[in-house]
Amino acid sequence: MTGSHVQTVLERIYATEAPELADVEAVLRITDGDELGRLFDFANEVRRWFVGDGVLLRRIVEFSNVCRNTCQYCGLNRGNDRLQRYRLTKEEILAAVGNIRAAGIKTVVLQSGEEDDLDADWLREIVEEIKSSRDAAVTLCVGERRREEYRLWKEAGADRYLLKIETSDPGLYGQLHAGMSFENRRRCLRDLAELGYQTGSGDLVGLKGQTLRHLAGDVQFFKQGNFDMISISPFIPHPQTPLAEEPAGDLLMTLKMTALARIVSRDAHIPATTALGSLHGRDERPKVLAAGANVIMPNFTPASYRRHYEIYPNKRCVNEDARACPACLEQMVGAMGRWVDYARGDSLKRSLKCEVGSLK
Ligand code: SAM
Ligand code: FES
Repeated sequence: MTGSHVQTVLERIYATEAPELADVEAVLRITDGDELGRLFDFANEVRRWFVGDGVLLRRIVEFSNVCRNTCQYCGLNRGNDRLQRYRLTKEEILAAVGNIRAAGIKTVVLQSGEEDDLDADWLREIVEEIKSSRDAAVTLCVGERRREEYRLWKEAGADRYLLKIETSDPGLYGQLHAGMSFENRRRCLRDLAELGYQTGSGDLVGLKGQTLRHLAGDVQFFKQGNFDMISISPFIPHPQTPLAEEPAGDLLMTLKMTALARIVSRDAHIPATTALGSLHGRDERPKVLAAGANVIMPNFTPASYRRHYEIYPNKRCVNEDARACPACLEQMVGAMGRWVDYARGDSLKRSLKCEVGSLK
């Protein structure tokens, strides 16, 4: 494509309710430096216009690595018998959350593997306790559950829920998730939105068998889903999984997907994921922030458990003291001329009305 053609295609993708797969694929094929520059500038401009220059901080507590699922890429999958499993107690979770609030951060993400015997009332009590004593938004990320469980936690005060579709293609999903149901995952996303959660989804880039067409389908899925949050991570191979020998997801492709997610979703919150802080041992998050992302999600799992939450190897900051995080992030974000935003960072979908085509 020529530079002006790229601009035309980007404007078309931006302005429509139903981006064409061919347009999205054409953007995903870009390798020329000038054309990439146009893409990232366009996405960055959409980001600046709709969500501003602040970079929101969300803190994650990974409270359990017990999982019933079979995701072929994930180190927590139930077949990994070399992983030492753990589950934090209610007291440990509340102590971690207390430390997060003491650090001035107002969003807490409670994440775990998908536990078969997760006690919904136990989690409800934790949500209630956090909401009654602390001014914090609570995000849950505990996988596919029954609608009644989602309702219970929503009524207890949970604000947000993250459930990545991982891939929007049912066939590819089936290949990577034996015994799991793509339809059920979609049902969960529908239930969460209907129950009033600020809902996040996302995908993985570089999965075995994934094509540009699949990725373009993910971009369409993000548009149709009108999600409050979208998370895009490169796949990182884990040695105790069936995909151990597969190459990691490509950084450039992840940047392009982030830029496209920003262009179609406009005001969604999009993190520079921890996986991007861990790819090939380098911290690539500044590049993602420059391609449309506006959130960082550092880890606040107690240090003694952190290394057991091994979704993929060499995860960033596993051995660091979490108290050092704000200074490190302020430096990274400040160097880009942006600033760390300690607000709750609620969804903008319900408050901002922006006209299609208002961005030049
Ligand atoms: N059980 C919850 C769920 O399914 O949403 C949350 C835990 S799950 C481990 C969190 C995310 O880790 C997944 O949505 C997936 O995208 C990501 N993940 C798993 N394995 C990965 C890998 N090898 N490389 C990059 N990200 C991975
Ligand atoms: Fe646990 Fe995928 S292996 S949710």
